[in-house]
Amino acid sequence: MAIFLTGSTGYIGAHIAANLLGQHGASLNLLVRARDPHEAELRLWCAMQLHMSFPRFYEYLQTKIRVFRGDLTSTQFGLQADDYDRLVHTTDSVIHCAASLNRKSEKSCLNVNLRGTLEVVQLGMRSNYYHGLRRFSHVSTVAVAGKRKDEVVTEDEAIDWNRSDYDPYARTKKFCEHMIRQLLPEVPKTIFRPSIVLGDSRHPETTQFDMVKAFVFLAGLPVLPFRSRDKIDIVNVDFVADAVAALHQKEGPQHDTYHLSSGRESQTFKQLTTALAAAQNKRRPLFIPFLEKPFDKGVNLMSNRKGPVGYGASLMKVFMPYLVWNTVFDNTRVTSELGRKPVPFSQYSYPLLKLSRDTNFTYNYEDWPTRAGGSAA
Ligand SMILES: NC(=O)c1ccc[n+]([C@@H]2O[C@H](COP(=O)([O-])OP(=O)(O)OC[C@H]3O[C@@H](n4cnc5c(N)ncnc54)[C@H](OP(=O)(O)O)[C@@H]3O)[C@@H](O)[C@H]2O)c1
Repeated sequence: MAIFLTGSTGYIGAHIAANLLGQHGASLNLLVRARDPHEAELRLWCAMQLHMSFPRFYEYLQTKIRVFRGDLTSTQFGLQADDYDRLVHTTDSVIHCAASLNRKSEKSCLNVNLRGTLEVVQLGMRSNYYHGLRRFSHVSTVAVAGKRKDEVVTEDEAIDWNRSDYDPYARTKKFCEHMIRQLLPEVPKTIFRPSIVLGDSRHPETTQFDMVKAFVFLAGLPVLPFRSRDKIDIVNVDFVADAVAALHQKEGPQHDTYHLSSGRESQTFKQLTTALAAAQNKRRPLFIPFLEKPFDKGVNLMSNRKGPVGYGASLMKVFMPYLVWNTVFDNTRVTSELGRKPVPFSQYSYPLLKLSRDTNFTYNYEDWPTRAGGSAA
């Protein structure tokens, strides 16, 4: 029996897969989008090489990983009937991590997040019917808390149906949580809500650059349109993956929902920029909060441009609400249950900034070794 994990080719999902394999000796059923078996293995190797050498990966592929080539937006993931049956009958629990994070696309969020999660829930119901499902874990987001200002939000207060959402991503992720709770009443469930997941505290290498680009862009400005004492809730991906794996594997987690966040210990813009300035031997930027509106307008205008400037501005546009809401997410549940805390961003932000600039936001992927096997080799 195995854990059915979605999103393993993504940033957080790959960290979770590596943690489950390395720390928990788990067997995994992985849903991977690919045209043929070798492409699936190659895509997995790209996602996993941050975490392990090729021989280790290949050994896991032979012994612990079963790949199901499918898509969340197709009925029964587009799998052949016998493959789908095999998935149902070999899945002992589910970690649903895949999602569309395209905050600008209603269509993509509707299809991947809502229709996709419904497919995963149906798989869970079928496995539960045949042999009982040990746990259904869902990687949600703190964005389900909707529009907020100057708050510390606890897990139980986050969902408020009368509140507006920032974007289609937040809205659909909020409904996913609801759908899972409504449709799987008898299955033990865990909802994980990470805050802004940025960087790995153990090393500066990353394969996901969207948020990093926004961070590097802001870090290069001499003036920031924020209030210096506002807090920003950033969490390291290694903490998130460790918490998801540990609580999913635990026999009886104490709660059904966890914020995976820095909570009240989140750092202020001033703390973050002071640490970065010291590491670079530079002056800290000035904070001029009343520039927020003109800055917003500028970002809006530039986001319509083509090329890297337009791309950078459109990234800023989607992240801006989360930078100025001065809202943090109480993490007492996860820190007291696991006995560990996230690493403050200021402790690992400079190596991340430096490596991202040095590599021009690219990860130097290792190819599939020519002498290794593989389904299509
Ligand atoms: N990153 C953050 O700061 C953050 C914060 C809070 C919560 N989260 C949550 O964490 C989870 C993972 O986020 P991430 O940052 O790791 O995102 P990511 O790197 O973009 O990964 C998304 C994953 O979902 C998969 N996926 C998307 N559409 C799919 C489809 N139609 N069928 C099958 N798989 C599909 C992707 O597969 P492909 O490789 O084939 O595209 C990829 O494996 C999401 O649920 C997100 O809501 C993220």
